Amino acid sequence: MISRSLILRFSLSRNVLFPRVNLFHKQYHSRFSNAPKYRLSCPGPWNICKQQLSRNAPFSTDSSKQFRQLTDQDVIFRQLLDYRSYTYSYILADASSKEGVLIDPVLDNVNRDLQIIKDLGINLTIVVNTHVHADHITGSGFLKQSLPNCKSYTSVQSGAVADRKFDHGSHLTFGKYALECRSTPGHTNGCYSFVWHENSMVFTGDAVLIRGCGRTDFQQGCSETLYESVHREIFSLPGHYRIYPAHDYTGNTVSTIDEEKQLNPRLRRTKEEFLEIMANLKLPYPNQIDKALPANLLCGLQPDLP
Ligand SMILES: [Fe+2]
Repeated sequence: MISRSLILRFSLSRNVLFPRVNLFHKQYHSRFSNAPKYRLSCPGPWNICKQQLSRNAPFSTDSSKQFRQLTDQDVIFRQLLDYRSYTYSYILADASSKEGVLIDPVLDNVNRDLQIIKDLGINLTIVVNTHVHADHITGSGFLKQSLPNCKSYTSVQSGAVADRKFDHGSHLTFGKYALECRSTPGHTNGCYSFVWHENSMVFTGDAVLIRGCGRTDFQQGCSETLYESVHREIFSLPGHYRIYPAHDYTGNTVSTIDEEKQLNPRLRRTKEEFLEIMANLKLPYPNQIDKALPANLLCGLQPDLP
């Protein structure tokens, strides 16, 4: 009887033996699919599994370590679309303290964003841009004026106005979590990616798009710099980390490091091939750039804006 139970436990299906914790285990074991020791050592009950994982995967900025995937009980996460510029904005918050961050807000959508923040009871303390956008006006200025605890953030390299500046290696903390700021120039000088290690996520701005990347033909763009930034700071992350870009024009919402390393038609290639591709894109001049750039250098705040 014992040996049969053990066989079932480790060889067949945990679903049968522990149906109540199946959902959690599915998430955790798929997360740790490259670490067989977790699959074998997990004895079943959720609280034991959780303790074991937290012992083995404490918070650290060391990207070689693996981290567990957080659930809705731990975090609030919303991916929001601006359907005019196909920009994604992201709300992240600590579900306990409700302290939160908004990445890449769009001025046209600030009322929507404020409603969500209010509905979910989020205390938004940080509004941040991955870079100075050329295709829409940021909602940062309006949001920080509307929310008493909110400060705007931008990189020291961006040249834009904000309440606070961050540099490579800085951390943006919200509740018990933090985003690691990684400088990923190439699309613009001031481009940053934000790594949420605790939740195995990276917000790549325009450095890596799903099956693509940002253009490099204006705003101090440089294809060689972009290629090196992506391979050094983004593709060096663990393969299971999910990529959330600043835009998608085809309806995709998320990718992974492994997926883009293998399938990105530009960035999977050699640097020489990449430079050739980028030099021959022949993209049109962006519609909004003449209006968006000057406004975004001022946090989206201009005298004639709300
Ligand atoms: Fe951009």
